[in-house]
Amino acid sequence: MGQSMRVALLPGDGIGPDVIAAGVRVLDAVARQDRFSIEYSTHLLGGVAIDEMGEPFPAQTRDAVIRSDAVLLGAVGGPKWDRGPGHLRPEAGLLALRKALGVYANLRPVRAFPALLGASPLREEVARGVDVMIVRELTGGVYFGERQTGQLQDGERFARDTMYYTESEIRRVLVKGFEAARLRKKRLTSVDKANVLDSSRLWRAVVDEMKSEYPDVSVEHALVDSCAMHLVTRPHAFDVIVTENLFGDILSDEAAVLTGSIGVLPSASIGNGPGLYEPIHGSAPDIAGQNVANPLGTILSVALMLRYSLGFPEAADRIEAAVEAAIAGGARTRDLAAGAAAFLHTDEMTEAVLAHLA
Ligand code: IPM
Ligand code: MG
Repeated sequence: MGQSMRVALLPGDGIGPDVIAAGVRVLDAVARQDRFSIEYSTHLLGGVAIDEMGEPFPAQTRDAVIRSDAVLLGAVGGPKWDRGPGHLRPEAGLLALRKALGVYANLRPVRAFPALLGASPLREEVARGVDVMIVRELTGGVYFGERQTGQLQDGERFARDTMYYTESEIRRVLVKGFEAARLRKKRLTSVDKANVLDSSRLWRAVVDEMKSEYPDVSVEHALVDSCAMHLVTRPHAFDVIVTENLFGDILSDEAAVLTGSIGVLPSASIGNGPGLYEPIHGSAPDIAGQNVANPLGTILSVALMLRYSLGFPEAADRIEAAVEAAIAGGARTRDLAAGAAAFLHTDEMTEAVLAHLA
């Protein structure tokens, strides 16, 4: 065996454990093929961590992820923990994890699988060939700015959140956006609300200052509301979209449904240390533990992990090709089966992918 990689697993809540098990099987398979070994460790995050340790991101988890080479996360959250105070919610654990890892850029590739186009809410001719990469700023903006809840003198309640960015925070995520565009169709759309927000005007200014460093990339600015509209009317107009945290959260959910299959979409969150990889879908507590969740979002997140953190880009290509082949061959989990009675369970879909990997 060659190198050994430390991969921290954070199954989390709901279907998280189901899909993480699938991801591990695929990662093990490529590790055997490419002769590297993986040291796994499993840690608590989210609701399960609240239940067992009283907090969503315990210190043991923090120490382990920081020392890993990469982190694979299932999902966090569920109705059971929805009533807790802000800092005791599963989502607070996810934000603290992102901050602890310093993963300031979230990459969400959205690509239409030809065989799944029927499931898209868009007409087939609009959805066909959609291939967008959203690069979302992940550790700044309104998610992490100063916030306050209080009462005015007369008893009127108020709350505020702050969208705060420094130019270096903007610049480093823009670098990821420009670099991603360079490896793709060389078109970058920077999304902001510069007609209203100061933070957006700074964002736009930094984009314009950086353009000359990437003369091969064509850059356009778009306002977030108009971008939201164009994503559904002419999704082909986009190659790489780069934007701040909250805008990226909203636009990436919108983009995710274009392909008709949020269950197959992966994400990578990267910074200067270990990367964090997770499917885009949530914890789906209603189907947890039933072996019906779609594992493809996690399996494709494993591919991104191999590409961006572990240094095995060919293995990533092989996994993506195997997923594509499994879908083209008719493999469907329940969410993709359009109501048909026959569908593959989580483990069977995983085996369909493994069969094409072999
Ligand atoms: C996401 C999710 C999270 C976010 C939530 C769960 C805090 O919506 O990863 O997009 O808003 O970042
Ligand atoms: Mg979101």
